[in-house]
Amino acid sequence: MRKGIILSGGMGTRLYPCTEVISKQLLPVYDKPLVYYPLSTLMLAGIRDIMIINSPNDSDPFQRLLKDGSQFGLNITYSVQHEPRGIAECFRIAEKWIGDDDVALILGDNIFYGNDLINRFNRATWNTSGATLFAYHVNDPERFGVLELNEFNDPIDVHEKPKDPPSSYAVTGLYFYDNKVVDYAYQISPSARGELEITDINKLYMKNHDCKVEFLNRGIAWIDTGTFESLSEASTFVGTVQRRTGMMIACPEEIAFKQSWITEETLLKSAEQYKKSDYGKYLFKIARGF
Ligand code: TTP
Repeated sequence: MRKGIILSGGMGTRLYPCTEVISKQLLPVYDKPLVYYPLSTLMLAGIRDIMIINSPNDSDPFQRLLKDGSQFGLNITYSVQHEPRGIAECFRIAEKWIGDDDVALILGDNIFYGNDLINRFNRATWNTSGATLFAYHVNDPERFGVLELNEFNDPIDVHEKPKDPPSSYAVTGLYFYDNKVVDYAYQISPSARGELEITDINKLYMKNHDCKVEFLNRGIAWIDTGTFESLSEASTFVGTVQRRTGMMIACPEEIAFKQSWITEETLLKSAEQYKKSDYGKYLFKIARGF
C-alpha cells in the first residue's frame, strides 16, 4: 500500500505579511484553498491514507477545514513540523505512521493539472521499488533543482539552482518512494543552510541506481505557488479553465464520488454546507450526474 504526505509547514516568508497568521496552503487559489490541489493530486494517484504535516500554529485551521477526511472518502491524520528544518524531515516525523508502507510526498504549494497525469501516476504506482521523480521542462532551470541525465535519460544527479544547468528538467514537488526513504532520511545530515534536503535523498536513490523519472509533457501544467506572482498566475489559470469547461480543477468531493469512495448522501451533505457558493452548486451538479 502507498500512503501520502502533504508537507504544509514552512514559513511562507515570500508571502509576508499574508502568511504571518495563516498558512500559505490555506490561501485561496481562485475558489478553493491551495491545499485542495495537492490533496486532489494524491487522490488521483489512488492514495487514500494521507498525513498532513503543518507548522505548530496551523494545526487548528487545517483540522477544521479537512477534518478526518471521511467527507472525501479519505483517512487524514495530522502531524507537526516544529521548525522548517527541511523537506526531508517529514519522513522522520511520519516514520511510525508510514510503518512498512511505501509513501508519496507532495509539497503543499504544488499544483499539477492535465489529463495524462493519471497515467503517469499509475506507472509510478506500479513501480514499487525505488523512487519515481516527476520532471518538468522549464524555461528558467537556474531557479530549480535540475536533473542531470545520462544517454538513456536515466537520472544521475540533481543540481540545486545551477548557474550552468545540465538540462532543462526541473524536479517537481511530487515524489514516490519505497519504504527505504525512512532509512535514507536518517542517513542524511543538514545542509549548509541547516535543512534536511530532499535532493540528498534523491541522490541516494540515484547512487543506488534506484531512481526513475516520469517526464511530464507540455499538456500538463505544474505551478509552484511560492510567490505572489505564481499564486496569482495559478488563480488565473484555474479560473480560466473552470469557466471555459464548466468543470472544476481539484474538487476532492468530485474525485471521491466518481471513484465511489463516498456515497451520494455524503456528497449532498457537503453540497448543502457550501450551497451559497459556486463550489456548493457544483457539488449539486455532480450529484445529478451532469
Ligand atoms: P518553500 O517554498 O521552500 O518554503 P516556504 O513555504 O517556507 O516559503 P518561503 O520560501 O517563502 O519562506 O517550501 C516549499 C514547500 O515545502 C511549502 O509547501 C512548505 C514546505 N516546507 C515544509 O513544510 N517544511 C520545510 O522545512 C520546508 C523547507 C518546506
